[in-house]
Amino acid sequence: MSKRFYITTAIDYVNGQPHLGHAYEKIIADVIARARRSLGQEVFFLTGLDEHGQKVQQAAQAEKKNPQEYCDALAADWQAFVKKLELTNDDFVRTTQPRHKEFVQATLAKLRAAGQFYKASYTGFYSAKEETFLTEKDRLPDGTFDASYGEVVELKEDNYYFKLGAHQPWLIDYIEANPDFIAPSYRRNEVLGFLKNNTLEDLCISRPLARLNWGIPLPFDPEFVTYVWFDALVNYASIAHAHPELGLWPADIHVIGKDIVKFHAVYWPIMLKAMELPLPKQVLVHGWWQKDGAKISKSTGNVVDPMAVINEWGLDAFRFYVLRELDIGPDGNWTDAGFRSRYQAELANGLGNLVNRSLSMLKRYRNGVVPARSNELAADAAKAADETRALFKQSQLQSALQSIWGLVNRANKYVDETAPFKLAKDPAQAQRLDEVLYNLAESCRVLAVLLNPFLPGTSAKIYAQLGLTSTPDKLADATWGGLQAGHAIGEPAPLFPRKDV
Ligand code: MSP
Repeated sequence: MSKRFYITTAIDYVNGQPHLGHAYEKIIADVIARARRSLGQEVFFLTGLDEHGQKVQQAAQAEKKNPQEYCDALAADWQAFVKKLELTNDDFVRTTQPRHKEFVQATLAKLRAAGQFYKASYTGFYSAKEETFLTEKDRLPDGTFDASYGEVVELKEDNYYFKLGAHQPWLIDYIEANPDFIAPSYRRNEVLGFLKNNTLEDLCISRPLARLNWGIPLPFDPEFVTYVWFDALVNYASIAHAHPELGLWPADIHVIGKDIVKFHAVYWPIMLKAMELPLPKQVLVHGWWQKDGAKISKSTGNVVDPMAVINEWGLDAFRFYVLRELDIGPDGNWTDAGFRSRYQAELANGLGNLVNRSLSMLKRYRNGVVPARSNELAADAAKAADETRALFKQSQLQSALQSIWGLVNRANKYVDETAPFKLAKDPAQAQRLDEVLYNLAESCRVLAVLLNPFLPGTSAKIYAQLGLTSTPDKLADATWGGLQAGHAIGEPAPLFPRKDV
């Protein structure tokens, strides 16, 4: 039996409510997970929360709560969010769970015993906001540090360091030998450029209790907690370890945003190598959303509230827009007008209209009974299915939607060309009308199968309206000819109601 396909998302900091960027990443991972299941693979999809570290400690302090209570309260909101997005995750990790903490400590103990760490004293300029020491390179031309670092103070402290230098050569070789390890390729080139032109500084993997106490204690020195990134990255392995019967490791895809590439494509592979674990197959890097051309920011109020959009327009409209609008890689820009326009053109007038008029005509002219098979659109459907299959394997979600809409548009055009409402008036055209109605109903069925990973609710509705009791969740069922002559369809109903705005 082949190994389970193991896909993860970044684990989000619990220092506020989920926003568009978080939702986008989770939807990407969910669609890939569903697509792989549709291809017949067994999948394990992991998402969750990053609960330690300074950001979370500060957020808890600001609300005068103890950090664990603060995390517990917010974790409930984030888990509700996962439900709202209908993510098909198989587990939900919280880094404060014992199963994770114990694995992190075991990992630290193992690496310490293997001589990967050393203790040293360091004096430098520290940004609490970014939780990082800054170097001379971070100074602006006038000698100050950028305002985005917040207050920068000089600190001297002892810490534990992870030796990275020795790992640099093999990592470069590995990335060069494995072109799919970092995708898209321009992100891979950036990482390679960085590794070839810089000497990696050793990674500080501890924080003194005096500065931060919200973290996993180092197993070999109670005066320190673990650096939040060392803790967080390990979630991918700790949760694999928590399901030993599934043989999850190595992960197939880590879906992450462009700001955290270095952690996933440099530190994490080196950590894994030191842990003597195989490397993940791919780090898949998506871009960042803006709204109306400006950074998404709670303080300026420039936000998209995914919950509000879903409540107004439906989950599938939201899932569709983010994946259709933005390919995995570049940055995107959310505009309410753009959202409405895609809803109207592609969902309501495109897919929705096709399904509604196809099934309504079948109901009206043939009493909802499927006529004999006809293959006029079979080649178009096969093309969309073949392309979708290939694109799913490449995680090319936007292209898959474009290909699927090739069939939506072809079928809508077919309605205009064949004009079944005219055929219906002429008894001599009864057989032609049968052919047209079959091609339309069967195209709707194939579309339900192809769209299932993206628009699971809509896909299920199409199957129900077709009177099918099976589920459209296997790509193999996209083969033409699934609808049988004599089958009675269900009740047509609009999939995407028109909105007057
Ligand atoms: N906790 C770390 C990740 C640890 S993974 C071992 C973290 N958390 S985060 O909450 O700040 O970000 C979580 C994910 O959301 C990241 O992949 C990040 O790139 C993504 N996004 C945050 N804002 C975003 C946008 N505006 N647009 C798209 N994705 C964005 O980093």
